[in-house]
Amino acid sequence: MIPVFAHRPVLVKEVIEALQPKTCGWYVDGTLGGGGHAEAVLESSSPDGLLFGCDRDERALAATTQRLARFEERMILNQGNFTDLPKWVQSESCDGVLLDLGTSSPQLDQAARGFSFQQDGPLDMRMDQRQKQTAADVINTWEEPKLARLFWEYGGERESRRIAKAIVETRATGLIRNTTTLAAVVERAKPRRGAKTHPATQVFQALRMEVNDELGSLQTGLAGVWGLLKVGGRLAVITFHSLEDRVVKNFGQRLERDYIASGEVDIPELRRSKPVEARWLQRKAIKPSDEELKVNPRSRSAQLRVLEKLK
Ligand SMILES: C[S@@+](CC[C@H](N)C(=O)[O-])C[C@H]1O[C@@H](n2cnc3c(N)ncnc32)[C@H](O)[C@@H]1O
Repeated sequence: MIPVFAHRPVLVKEVIEALQPKTCGWYVDGTLGGGGHAEAVLESSSPDGLLFGCDRDERALAATTQRLARFEERMILNQGNFTDLPKWVQSESCDGVLLDLGTSSPQLDQAARGFSFQQDGPLDMRMDQRQKQTAADVINTWEEPKLARLFWEYGGERESRRIAKAIVETRATGLIRNTTTLAAVVERAKPRRGAKTHPATQVFQALRMEVNDELGSLQTGLAGVWGLLKVGGRLAVITFHSLEDRVVKNFGQRLERDYIASGEVDIPELRRSKPVEARWLQRKAIKPSDEELKVNPRSRSAQLRVLEKLK
């Protein structure tokens, strides 16, 4: 029996408008989650559209496989990182690719997964349980300056040094194994002072991004899935974090330009020309409507960007 996998997908209408699934089209969902977007793509590409899908999380895959059983003939789903899609999906064969980044609600809500500071669970945070490194490994083995840098760079945590120091002092008396223990250490180092969000929010976000190498996967994955698209195909990416959005924007900017910059600093006289490879469907990121925000507050930081392949 597969547990209910309740994830409310964001920006579904906007994704479908962007990808315009059609019958006989081939599509990729690199972050299946609960299968909401995948279902919409399969429905709107009926009766013959094909979907390749993956998720790192075996529970997400199991739940989606069950949810989408009626489309069995038209989908190929695997557990794995979207960086591996080029190993099993033919290059330049697809009409649309979706990456809906970050975590799903069940990952955040199930205490045993260790993503939540509100419920007690093991400090785990692995999306893929076959992976070795857990959040506990990072918290209990990394040196203080490295922890501080992580909290600052991935979490934007201003008290990163104080928190790292408190963690190192605490673990000298015994390993930090649980989410609520870590949350309490952070709260002691960084009192709430009327803040709306829990003081451990940024630390937990930074840890999760590190444990799952989320930015590294995105950087490698974008180039990989771009190679799967036919000319005219579209890549839709939903991000929830400014660092992720920057990676997507930079990726698109390189493709939409007719030149390659000479180095870190772009000196116009030293540019080398190249063909324009892509265009943004819309220059500004697409955001959830007021109606969506009302029914799904978790969508508030979602941003969709869509690139069309021209070459
Ligand atoms: C926001 S949820 C996706 C929700 C999905 N679009 C839906 O309709 O339910 C993000 C999912 O992406 C998965 N994920 C995150 N990074 C991944 C990666 N690099 N490769 C494969 N799956 C990934 C997570 O395990 C999670 O299930």
